[in-house]
Amino acid sequence: MLDAAAVAQVRAVIDAGPWADGNATSGAQSALAKANEQLPEDCDAARAAGAIVLDALAASPLFVAAALPLKVFPPLFNRYAGGQAFGTHVDNAIRIRRGSDFRIRSDLSATLFLAHPGDYDGGELVIEGQFGEQRVKLPAGDLVVYPASSLHRVEPVTRGSRVASFFWVQSMVRDDAARRVLFELDEGVQAVAVRLGQGDPAAVKLTGVYHNLLRRWAEL
Ligand code: NI
Repeated sequence: MLDAAAVAQVRAVIDAGPWADGNATSGAQSALAKANEQLPEDCDAARAAGAIVLDALAASPLFVAAALPLKVFPPLFNRYAGGQAFGTHVDNAIRIRRGSDFRIRSDLSATLFLAHPGDYDGGELVIEGQFGEQRVKLPAGDLVVYPASSLHRVEPVTRGSRVASFFWVQSMVRDDAARRVLFELDEGVQAVAVRLGQGDPAAVKLTGVYHNLLRRWAEL
């Protein structure tokens, strides 16, 4: 999602920010499980770095195809060090931005890794899915998007510092299975168009099927 220069730019902005106890943004249940630091959501550093992240999301065809975003919560930033962790929890269904009328239903949760994985131990994002646990620890600049309905946790960070951006997406297509079908169809349509050409009747027909399914399932 972010190249090395953009990661460095975001880190320069947020590392100098006013980090505070992460429990400021938690629901009552998740506060019990959570130990980390966050940037206050309305501070200048979070706003400036968040704008860079939002621009990158909007410019990513892969993110748009996978998430079909209707609304994206302004990105937040967190940091784990010295054994800090976030125990198993589910994110709140509704997110309201403090001091505004911006609110979203969280269909998807997203974590954008902002530290080089070799610079810290632990800190895996563990997502409990239909087929078991997935342990996610990605290069700086890489993003993981997963159903917000998933139980998940962040393992203790035992060396160094795990820095990330996190946010939620309200998708035009609320149902995870329907969104997945659309994503896979989109990938197939793109592959067919590359082989046969955009104007090939089969590619045109499949593109039409994609849009007609999206028309049936999208809520705006
Ligand atoms: Ni969470």
